[in-house]
Amino acid sequence: MNIMKQSIDLLIINASELITLRGFSDRPATKDDMKKLQIIKDGAVAIENGKIIDVGESEELKAKYTAENEISAHDKIVLPGFIDAHTHLIFSGSREEELTLKLEGISYLEILKRGGGILKTVRETRKATLEQLVREGEQRLSSMLIHGVTTVEAKSGYGLNVEDELKMLEACRILNEKHVVDVIPTLLAAHAIPQEFKKNPDDYVELIINEIIPKVAERKLAKFNDVFVEKNVFTIEQGRKILLAGKEYGLIPKIHADEINYLGGAELAGEVGAISADHLARASDTGLKTLAEKGIVGVLLPAAPMVLMDYVFPNARRMIRMGVPVAVATDFNPNCWVENIQVAMFMATYFLKMTPAEVITSVTINAAHAIGLSHEIGSIEKGKKADLVILNVPSHYWINYRFGVNLVDTVIKSGQIVVENGKITKNSR
Ligand code: NIG
Ligand code: FE
Repeated sequence: MNIMKQSIDLLIINASELITLRGFSDRPATKDDMKKLQIIKDGAVAIENGKIIDVGESEELKAKYTAENEISAHDKIVLPGFIDAHTHLIFSGSREEELTLKLEGISYLEILKRGGGILKTVRETRKATLEQLVREGEQRLSSMLIHGVTTVEAKSGYGLNVEDELKMLEACRILNEKHVVDVIPTLLAAHAIPQEFKKNPDDYVELIINEIIPKVAERKLAKFNDVFVEKNVFTIEQGRKILLAGKEYGLIPKIHADEINYLGGAELAGEVGAISADHLARASDTGLKTLAEKGIVGVLLPAAPMVLMDYVFPNARRMIRMGVPVAVATDFNPNCWVENIQVAMFMATYFLKMTPAEVITSVTINAAHAIGLSHEIGSIEKGKKADLVILNVPSHYWINYRFGVNLVDTVIKSGQIVVENGKITKNSR
């Protein structure tokens, strides 16, 4: 019998492994589930109007569909587009001189105390125009895209006053409209105490609560509200106040927790109902238990301890054993200028001892949970956005085994081919 085939936009066939990660949209993957990639061998994906409409074996889908565009992923693997769930995408200037200082043994927090670090980037970002921030952001997004990233969380935090925090988030909004990569904005006004408030840090906390948060919320410029809780930066009490104030305006809490010193950031994440707690290199067992119980995603940033040069990595094995849903991200920022998420991925294997399968889960479905988008992205399932990456390796066991080169062959963003043969073919909407 001659069955009429449905005509669609794009059909991907012959994937040696189609890594679907199906079944974790309601809850992030934890423990052994982080290894369950739900692979279809000789897999295929049907795409129409930017969405995934069918997933299965090649023979089955070839019999059902005829496509305007067909991609053979023979000898390659197909995964959900990578999600970088923690970046400081927007800033101006650079801090290359601090690398030498760190090599001389001057710590990151000491550099900050002397007015460098974040505060240097604040001075440079305040001087930058909105257009300049957008231009620089565009280049970074394209560079992330070429490495397989289709969604990026982006924080403010180098303005530290009403006008410049709004300017940074406005840059995120424009980039989200212009660039094919989706940009999910986070307010991080509580990134450092600005120099002008050094003598009265609580006044800056009041400014965040009474002016910055309401204005950001009113203009709908951010989805999340983040705080850098750290010794000589923001205290637990200040962090709590800021995150609870944001919540009243509908901003979902996130937290830079227990990165350089243990302050109880993970516990605070549990208390305020954060969606994620990030860094966690010094998190306590009580804190981790809270994350596991509440399903708060632990976003691990293995490049951070490397660039801080303290080499204290989060204990991913312990977290996974305890049931913390783990995600992995770059922490792209002027102290950690890494646009390539595959660097964070291989570091997660070699420094956090995470298996290739766990790492894949950490930059796809669990990363989607960390930014509240698990029903739209992060897995290859019917109804989800067609954000896919095709890697030039025959099986997922090659991920992090072969490293230091870009493994990306093709990137599909919202159903459109945007990277082909490792080169960008389209980066604006
Ligand atoms: O996540 N720890 C605080 N914030 C960033 C670093 C930002 C910067 O140094 O500019 C981080 O590591
Ligand atoms: Fe960060």
